[in-house]
Amino acid sequence: MTNASSALPRPATGRLGILTPGLGAVASTFMAGVIATRKGLATPVGSLSQMGSFDDGRKISDVVELADLDDIVFGGWDPISANALEAAETCGVLTPQDIAPLSSELEGVVAMDAVFEQRWVSRLEGHRVKEAGSKFDHALALMSDMEQFQAEQGCDRLVVVWCGSTEAYSEAAECHQSLAAFEDGLKENDPAIAPSQIYAYAALQLGVPFANGAPNLSLDAPWAVELAELRQVPVCGKDFKTGQTLMKTLVAPGLAARSLGIRGWFSTNILGNRDGMVLDAPENFKTKESSKLGVLDSILEPEKNPELYGNIDHVVRINYYPPKGDDKEGWDHIDVFGWMGYPMQIKVDFECKDSILAAPLVLDLALFLDLAQRADMSGVQDWLGFYFKAPQELDGGRVDHDLFHQRDRLLEVLDSTVA
Ligand SMILES: NC(=O)c1ccc[n+]([C@@H]2O[C@H](COP(=O)([O-])OP(=O)(O)OC[C@H]3O[C@@H](n4cnc5c(N)ncnc54)[C@H](O)[C@@H]3O)[C@@H](O)[C@H]2O)c1
Repeated sequence: MTNASSALPRPATGRLGILTPGLGAVASTFMAGVIATRKGLATPVGSLSQMGSFDDGRKISDVVELADLDDIVFGGWDPISANALEAAETCGVLTPQDIAPLSSELEGVVAMDAVFEQRWVSRLEGHRVKEAGSKFDHALALMSDMEQFQAEQGCDRLVVVWCGSTEAYSEAAECHQSLAAFEDGLKENDPAIAPSQIYAYAALQLGVPFANGAPNLSLDAPWAVELAELRQVPVCGKDFKTGQTLMKTLVAPGLAARSLGIRGWFSTNILGNRDGMVLDAPENFKTKESSKLGVLDSILEPEKNPELYGNIDHVVRINYYPPKGDDKEGWDHIDVFGWMGYPMQIKVDFECKDSILAAPLVLDLALFLDLAQRADMSGVQDWLGFYFKAPQELDGGRVDHDLFHQRDRLLEVLDSTVA
């Protein structure tokens, strides 16, 4: 496999700007956690870059050339939230007591006007949006936002992580097949181009790495890979692997390791935050469903093990239930079978906090993409698949969803950047 660094990374000196399209639950929880850690008020639990180690005991943060948390500045765009403080207070993930000592810094992260089109998120009414113009004009406006942010904040480097809502399901169209076709599409307002793709285009054009925390189509199309290679920018997969899918990719490799059979896997989620409200719309749920359904086949390889995994009913549901707020409940009912085909059932009930699980992933992805950029690792970074429900592979290779294989690969590449 390629992608291991051939050059040692340039030092992580100066400030790193982390920009999030979307200032909602995940983005504000991420920002609050970094600020709280800097103040000595929190520990960055769940972040491999801050708390993880190589197998020989070396701590990643001691030996890998990563940006320091003190050097991070935040920015973002949102069509609804005015700033990160308002977002944190509205989404109800963190308690008022935890937000209070961070409030002035969060309030300082003022949302820039978003590139927004309601047809992609039918449940949201956006009012802090960029003026009418072509999609190409909007891309130029985003580039100027980034340049202005970088100059005003004195940043050496930027990274963009999409923390915006999941957009309606769409597949790559004609305009996504090459960079030239995509640019024509931007100028002609092609309806197949969604806002997240305009942010991605603007970032890559400026040589800024981009990660997509949601399942919608953004960088996973030929135009983006072409642009990333042209501008020498690292890109990676999509849709943070957090609650239920994290559990799935922990349990499934264990069952397969013991050659236990699986007949069915029924997964349902109830959640009540804004994300849940957006996903309640069928066209947005379809985007999520296709990313969630993908993981089992690649772990279980039914074509190699038809007797054990050749006949699995895999069903995924998401139910919007406001009283749950950000406390998502993920239920898995797994029908397994053992010796002589005797059936058994496993039930997993994960009462998780969605944004608490996603926030450290935003930090790790931003820091590792920045590392990749400084080590001249451009194009698709398969080693960041560890963080995604839908990883992006090199040259269209087979995607490996096994969390432990993904971790080994991540550590292998991180180690290759160490002097
Ligand atoms: N929390 C998790 O565990 C998890 C896991 C996987 C994926 N995700 C995805 O991460 C994303 C963020 O989740 P969240 O819980 O913070 O959702 P959220 O609804 O709290 O925040 C999303 C924000 O994006 C904004 N937005 C919508 N369209 C936008 C646009 N075009 N430009 C800029 N901003 C826009 C919305 O106004 C909202 O404030 C969602 O797509 C979600 O599906 C979350």
